[in-house]
Amino acid sequence: MTASAALSSFRDEEPDIADFRTEALAGLRRAPRTLPCKFFYDEAGSRLFEQITALPEYYLTRTEEAILAECVGEIAALAGPGCQVIEYGSGAIRKARILIDALNRPAGYVAVDISRDHLIRAAEALAGDYPDLEVHAVCTDYTTDFVVPGPKDRIAARRLGFFPGSTIGNFETDAAREFLAAAARTLGRNGAMVIGTDLQKDKEILEAAYDDAAGVTAAFNLHLLERINEELGGTFDLDRFRHVALYNDSTARIEMHIESLAEQSVEVADETFAFAEGERIHTENSHKYTVDGFCALAASAGFEAKQTWSDEDGLFAVHYLAVAN
Ligand code: AVI
Repeated sequence: MTASAALSSFRDEEPDIADFRTEALAGLRRAPRTLPCKFFYDEAGSRLFEQITALPEYYLTRTEEAILAECVGEIAALAGPGCQVIEYGSGAIRKARILIDALNRPAGYVAVDISRDHLIRAAEALAGDYPDLEVHAVCTDYTTDFVVPGPKDRIAARRLGFFPGSTIGNFETDAAREFLAAAARTLGRNGAMVIGTDLQKDKEILEAAYDDAAGVTAAFNLHLLERINEELGGTFDLDRFRHVALYNDSTARIEMHIESLAEQSVEVADETFAFAEGERIHTENSHKYTVDGFCALAASAGFEAKQTWSDEDGLFAVHYLAVAN
């Protein structure tokens, strides 16, 4: 059973409603229209995402967990004793437990996530289950600069970034490079990163993973409109929009959209947006890599790819990257 316990520190830099308003309105005014995928993850959106990770079509989570369980001893050997783990986009903090269990006397764990209440709950539960581990939480958009807290009374032998789930795939290539370069600076000399990437594969498998039969991914995508209605006084009628997820071969990515089912007008924050029938709002990209392609990207951002593990069907990969000297 999970008991919750106090955190060693909590820093709250949660983006406020003004950021959501500014970015949502700017995206809706653009042609073609866009909404940033980071806004999926409020309390309800984070819960929907947890449901996605358990869907039969969404092979990513269970495949990555199986790879991690298999290779975590090798990761622990590469990382050595006394690491401080920094997890980018920590969510429910499930996969990090596999890593923490294997590491030799970790110097602490820092959870970084944009969804405040979800973050506090998950980090306190971890602290309850690992009473000897120094657990810190930072609520922020982890693509922006943030100060890493702790460890308190010692120096970590190494900062070990942890970025599972293939969330790096949600960045455009240039943004992925920038994020990795910033992470390399944060992790510093001697730093390393364990990162998961989804791999290129048959279009049918990919499209099913992002358009499941139970409609959970559709609800997750349309939840952005619900948020706009509730938080920005929007008038989106969710029955008049639909979820679309298509694999784009030329960019090797799943593209998620919300498509208008009719010609219609919607008000958001006292502004009117006219939609044509079939017009789309682009909400998310999920890039699929090859192992070599990702290692080259990491190298261009200041990391040296030390080792990569994959499942026998070649669905997903976990990489150990060391900050290059
Ligand atoms: C968080 N991220 C890695 C997920 C993905 O697979 O791109 C988000 C997601 N979108 C739809 N389903 C899952």
